Amino acid sequence: MNLSKTVEKQADYAIRVRHLWHRFGPYDVVRDVSFDVGYGEVFGFIGPNGAGKTTTIRAMTTLLEPTAGRIEIDGIDVSVEPERVRRTIGYMPDHAGVYERVSVREYLEFFADSYAVDSSTVVDAVLELTDLGTLADRLVVAMSKGQKQRLQLARVLLHDPKVLILDEPASDLDPRARIEMRNLLSELRGMGKTILLSSHILTELADVCTSVGILERGRLVVAGPISEIGARLEAQRSGVVFRPPAHGEGDPSTGPAHQAAVRRVKFKVIGPPETAMATLNGAPFIVGMEVLAGQLIVSMTGPEWHIADMVGHLVRNNIGVVGVEQDKNELERIFLEVTRGEMQ
Ligand SMILES: Nc1ncnc2c1ncn2[C@@H]1O[C@H](COP(=O)(O)OP(=O)(O)O)[C@@H](O)[C@H]1O
Ligand SMILES: [Mg+2]
Repeated sequence: MNLSKTVEKQADYAIRVRHLWHRFGPYDVVRDVSFDVGYGEVFGFIGPNGAGKTTTIRAMTTLLEPTAGRIEIDGIDVSVEPERVRRTIGYMPDHAGVYERVSVREYLEFFADSYAVDSSTVVDAVLELTDLGTLADRLVVAMSKGQKQRLQLARVLLHDPKVLILDEPASDLDPRARIEMRNLLSELRGMGKTILLSSHILTELADVCTSVGILERGRLVVAGPISEIGARLEAQRSGVVFRPPAHGEGDPSTGPAHQAAVRRVKFKVIGPPETAMATLNGAPFIVGMEVLAGQLIVSMTGPEWHIADMVGHLVRNNIGVVGVEQDKNELERIFLEVTRGEMQ
């Protein structure tokens, strides 16, 4: 029996952007941007101020007709069926204002009515999800910045959109509010939502992202699942040809890898770290070593298995290794390799 015929056909990607260009006057601010976001992913759209993130997002959310290119959300072409796209997405603009002289509940009821959803149950569900239940009767004007930001997110969840597009959801938030936002995004991901969020600060929400696109001066430098980009750079460094899984027409995620990056690895050993340093001395891939706060910091080039080699070498020389940690997170390392220092 062929079940596939009875199942509603789902598009290949939740978001598909193909050869997007946008020109303001004489300036091409978005230049041939292509990327895909799979269902259930959290895609970090990263780039400095002015890179073209908001322009791309406005085109994705039907608010701006791009100069050229095609965008599909959940398989729906944005320029052909903008109304259907609007029902599919929850869009949180950057620097959105909120009505201040109403209560949190009134605010959400107003928007539930305007989305024509039944506010009696939905508002309570969304208040609980965004952890605003205890603030339901508070005036919006009396909320903190982080709470207002959660209210913005609550608003775009009312019509239960499949795809969330959030422009700088964590900018200007203090560390605690940022953590709360991150937890909320993880929860939404757990509910099966696809999320695209933009940020001009690389590490802001990086650890909730499953894939990233890095935009520089209107061009996408690299895009794809973090693990895949990492593996590709790894392979390029060690001279192995890496073939990413086929992604249908064209592969947008072919960013150049520039010079081999140096990574820092921290070793925690039993006994003096200087002994470990002397033991590792002479390995060709090590470009520097220092002792910091009782730990040995090794700066090295080359693939990850060099780290395993070092651990093996230390252990064979009777040095107890109790901790090994890479200093840079994966995303930061990718970022350093693919950008040319044009970013902040
Ligand atoms: N409406 C507009 N008219 C003219 N130029 C614009 C307009 N909106 C944005 N720009 C320019 O386009 C470039 C990209 O802006 P934007 O998409 O907002 O970048 P980002 O969101 O990455 O900071 C910037 O140089 C900005 O000044
Ligand atoms: Mg912007």
